[in-house]
Amino acid sequence: MMPRHQNMNLEPVDITAPPFRANPFSTFKRWRKTRPVAPVKAFGERAWIVTRYEDVLAALTDDRLVKDRRNIREPAQKRREVWLPGFIQPLQHTMLDSDPPDHTRLRSLVHQAFMPRLIAQMQARIHLLAHELIDRVQANGEMDIVHDFALPIPMVVISDMFGVAERDRAAFHRWSNVAVSVRKPIEGVLAIPSLYQLVRFLRRLFREHRLNPQDDLTSALLQAEAEGSKLAEDELIGMVGLLLSAGHETTVNLIGNGVLALLMHPAALDRLRAEPELMKPAVEELMRYSPPVLFATSRYACEDLTIAGTLIPKGEMVLAALGSANHDESRFEAPETLMLDRPNNKHVGFGSGMHYCLGAPLARLESSIAFQVLFERLPKLRLAIDPERLHWHSSLITRGVKAIPVKF
Ligand code: HEM
Repeated sequence: MMPRHQNMNLEPVDITAPPFRANPFSTFKRWRKTRPVAPVKAFGERAWIVTRYEDVLAALTDDRLVKDRRNIREPAQKRREVWLPGFIQPLQHTMLDSDPPDHTRLRSLVHQAFMPRLIAQMQARIHLLAHELIDRVQANGEMDIVHDFALPIPMVVISDMFGVAERDRAAFHRWSNVAVSVRKPIEGVLAIPSLYQLVRFLRRLFREHRLNPQDDLTSALLQAEAEGSKLAEDELIGMVGLLLSAGHETTVNLIGNGVLALLMHPAALDRLRAEPELMKPAVEELMRYSPPVLFATSRYACEDLTIAGTLIPKGEMVLAALGSANHDESRFEAPETLMLDRPNNKHVGFGSGMHYCLGAPLARLESSIAFQVLFERLPKLRLAIDPERLHWHSSLITRGVKAIPVKF
């Protein structure tokens, strides 16, 4: 039961719409002040948006907020969920949608491969790739940062890690992009053909790797599956699907949003060019300033609970607004200012707690090399259109622009 005084009216804001994605910060600021846990409609149901830094951090580590909703929801709540046929469901049950002990078991199977020490070995490869991408466009004097540079870097790297053949990469990206763009139940239904193709593609990837094992992560996971109880075939689909998607759908936005922010702040970009040692804090600041992932993925209240004085009924969805926490004036001085050497920048752009981003070391490495090579090779780089005319993706979790035309 809701307390009598609780305001149950949904906020009339479409958090997936391009105008909100372009600038969610003024709405977040208002909510942090007046309604720190704001109910909105998301995925066709009510979702509670947690906006203040301290509350977001607490929500990400609160074990009353669970990821796997299957056992905690009432039949009426289940009826409102995005329906997917059985053959696609493995994509929905990944480590990101699991709680312990499943989450602990699944994460431990891949944890090692993403350790900073192992990721650092990929530095030379990523460097070469970034230079190759610039070589391809240099003579043209113009390019689209997203399509020609920001997307191929994480796409090639994660595909190499999992042994995805070059011929499959573009199609895989299309299907995965449909999957991460689902915002409401009807779109879930419309996405079924792409999701079906995605599952078929993953099964073919496994078949090929079983016949011809390689020195890559797909073969290593197939080995874990063959060894018995550690990983079931459906879990393998969820795992590889999650890592391939998370491995590029997010980093493309860190590189894209980061380049955009720097082109719009020429003094900061000049400083970054002059002081390369700024790159490390600059990547953290760009993560904070223009978040590639706006909300953490959905969590569900396993009992009635209260956050910042707002009662959240059992089974309802909670979205921790990482992009709001990262602009909270009570935690960050002048949050709307891009400050490449911002001290003590404890942003939550990669989440927190047990689901903390597994790929953070990889994303940091890819984006710092991307920025370094791009700005070094193209000293006259500038936006080719008015920033007001950029098209932001309509999505819920990730946040990025469709294209960034530039000249150089
Ligand atoms: C800039 C790039 C990236 C950002 C902003 C980002 C952000 C995040 C966030 C916020 C979470 C936590 C979600 C939650 O708690 O609901 C997360 C989890 C995760 N990320 Fe990333 N990510 C990025 C890149 C990557 C890359 C490159 C990979 C892998 C190859 C990756 C793999 C994962 C996985 C597997 C999880 C789930 C971990 C778990 O459930 O234990 N991410 N990411």
